[in-house]
Amino acid sequence: MKAILLKDFGDASQLIIGEHPAPVAEAGKLVIKVAATSVNRPDIIQRQGNYPPPKGDSEILGLEVAGVVESVGDGVTRFKVGDRVFALVGGGGYAEYALAYAEHTMPIPDALTFQQAACICETYITAYLNAIVLGQPQSHDTVLLHGGGGGVNTAAIQLIKSLYPQVTIIVTASTGKVERVAGLGAHHVIDYKTQSFADEVKAITNGKGVNVILDHLGGSYLANNMKSLAVAGRLVVIGIMGGPKSELNLALMMVKRQQIIGSVLRSRPVAEKAQIIADFEKTVMPLFADETIAPLISDVFPLEQAADAHRAMEQGSHFGKIVLDVHG
Ligand SMILES: NC(=O)c1ccc[n+]([C@@H]2O[C@H](COP(=O)([O-])OP(=O)(O)OC[C@H]3O[C@@H](n4cnc5c(N)ncnc54)[C@H](OP(=O)(O)O)[C@@H]3O)[C@@H](O)[C@H]2O)c1
Repeated sequence: MKAILLKDFGDASQLIIGEHPAPVAEAGKLVIKVAATSVNRPDIIQRQGNYPPPKGDSEILGLEVAGVVESVGDGVTRFKVGDRVFALVGGGGYAEYALAYAEHTMPIPDALTFQQAACICETYITAYLNAIVLGQPQSHDTVLLHGGGGGVNTAAIQLIKSLYPQVTIIVTASTGKVERVAGLGAHHVIDYKTQSFADEVKAITNGKGVNVILDHLGGSYLANNMKSLAVAGRLVVIGIMGGPKSELNLALMMVKRQQIIGSVLRSRPVAEKAQIIADFEKTVMPLFADETIAPLISDVFPLEQAADAHRAMEQGSHFGKIVLDVHG
């Protein structure tokens, strides 16, 4: 099959189209003929050599696929050849065929195209798991999301608005994305290029701080995140785009009874991911099926141009998701 191969770890020019053996359906798994996949920020980190796939998963980049079931392995009863499905995969998305656990696969609602379905697993499940299940917002709480124009955070805004309409959403965004983030329903948008988010959060919350923060900047934002967190607030860290290390005042954290929670989706055990996906399918997928929400597609590239798709993400002008069209 055709697949995007990584010549060596490094910049986007390392991604080339080539030939790779197609996967074979194993027990409990199915092979999907990929119509579309999407680019996620962790793909860039993997390309750079800092995010290897879990043991046993494909070395090919790509964390989610949408397409048609090509073949099923022993014990797979929920899906049959020809079904329209989408799946979270530990790797292997940037290819014509991908192998997925049946329990990490969901049927595509009629309302969604393959390209839209290819934008759900990595970003919406991450947003759901971290901003909602781990962040535990209560009604009338205030939540702070960083980088509201990205894949995970456009998803987080939509999910919080739909599932917790009484929660106040504060979002940081770069100057050119402020208006579009407000258009998604964020109540307050802070331009992180020109404003101090800690000062703005203090003013917006009358000094109380926010109850939940979803953060992917890590080290560079830790001090201001802790300053912005209310008493008994929860900081959920899902990325380290601003570096992995920083100093923390434990005395203040203790007195304010705050929690810092670290979380990744990809390396969780198969059964744990299956449980998260089952919960997500029950709670969130009806919102896609009845068109309450829809994935935001910023750009579409053919699979062959995966390197350009990575450059586009690194340049950062996208709003929502970047899709790779495979067998569209
Ligand atoms: N732990 C997990 O399980 C998991 C799973 C998936 C993703 N992630 C992480 O989640 C993060 C987002 O991934 P993604 O796929 O959504 O990537 P993405 O679409 O590229 O989004 C990244 C966002 O970061 C924002 N950003 C950059 N510098 C910022 C700053 N100083 N302050 C505030 N925002 C800033 C950008 O906003 P502007 O464009 O406005 O500058 C952009 O919207 C990545 O760190 C990724 O590794 C974690």
